[in-house]
Amino acid sequence: LPVASLRAVAPFPVGAAVSISLLKNNAAYRRVMTTEYSSVTAENAMKFGALHPGATTYNWTDADYLVSFASQNNLRVHGHTLLWYNSLPGWVTTFQGDSAAWENLMRTHIQTVVGHFKGQVQGWDVVNEAIDDAGGLRTASLWRQHLGDRYIDRAFAYAHAADPAALLFYNDYGHEYSEARRLGILRLVNDLKARGVPIHGIGLQLHTSSNISDARIATAITSAAATGLRVHVAELDISMNPAKAATATFTAALAAAQKVKYKALAQTYKALPAAQRYGLTTWNVGDADSWKRNDCRCPEWPLPFDDTYQRKPAYDGLVEGL
Ligand code: XIL
Repeated sequence: LPVASLRAVAPFPVGAAVSISLLKNNAAYRRVMTTEYSSVTAENAMKFGALHPGATTYNWTDADYLVSFASQNNLRVHGHTLLWYNSLPGWVTTFQGDSAAWENLMRTHIQTVVGHFKGQVQGWDVVNEAIDDAGGLRTASLWRQHLGDRYIDRAFAYAHAADPAALLFYNDYGHEYSEARRLGILRLVNDLKARGVPIHGIGLQLHTSSNISDARIATAITSAAATGLRVHVAELDISMNPAKAATATFTAALAAAQKVKYKALAQTYKALPAAQRYGLTTWNVGDADSWKRNDCRCPEWPLPFDDTYQRKPAYDGLVEGL
């Protein structure tokens, strides 16, 4: 029997990262968002460069559109992301100033953005991708270069002060394929917790693929939960062309294998204590709008909906696991 929707089946919020222009202009895309999901993340519209394109210029148009769409359609909004080394506007990358001026820049951005959406965004990815492949702090981050290792503590404190009710997350990738990354991220998060930094959750991006075992994915999820914090599967997609072959076809066998992986992941996540299940979010909605197609410049089908926003076997796998 066909199920009503992901949101009807899941015992926790199920979300997708969305493009504002598709939401406005593609009826099938919009219908999937309003009928299937219970949470939404802006794919790009809440990033630094999108919201704060000039030193004293903020552009709220797209993000406000998303927040009002969410409230009209009973969707929870997850905020992504306050501080990232990437997606910074030119005025930040060329900013000249001492550490006090950089601190002021960081604080002003966080307070203005979190304050603007106060009460409307349930959780924020406060810091995104601060850990490098060796498990240490990423040296290529302008924030760390100008503000030192403890910028992360202060970013969380500023966000907490601006909206004490918002749930604050550290978000990163690679837990499922790199032990150095997984352990480095856990070390950082446990350290923040131990020092009383207001952190409430850990986001696992989980841009994963067919060649990563279900056991590794399970370890990523359960070891994050062992911190005691909420766990957000924040950017899920399962690549079915990990070799990035220039020509490839999405066969029935690949679709079936993808279904099994979505199911295993959903089962693992569902087994966490209810209080730790912030939700499961896919990165994009249908295969046609997946960032992976640009990222790998190759054929990809990583999502639960196909190019025309019809349910795939991956969707059924997700439902079976929920
Ligand atoms: C990606 C978007 O999907 C792209 O449209 C954009 O060009 C670059 O960023 N990890 C993250 C997301 O935390 O913000 C990234 O989103 C994907 C990887």
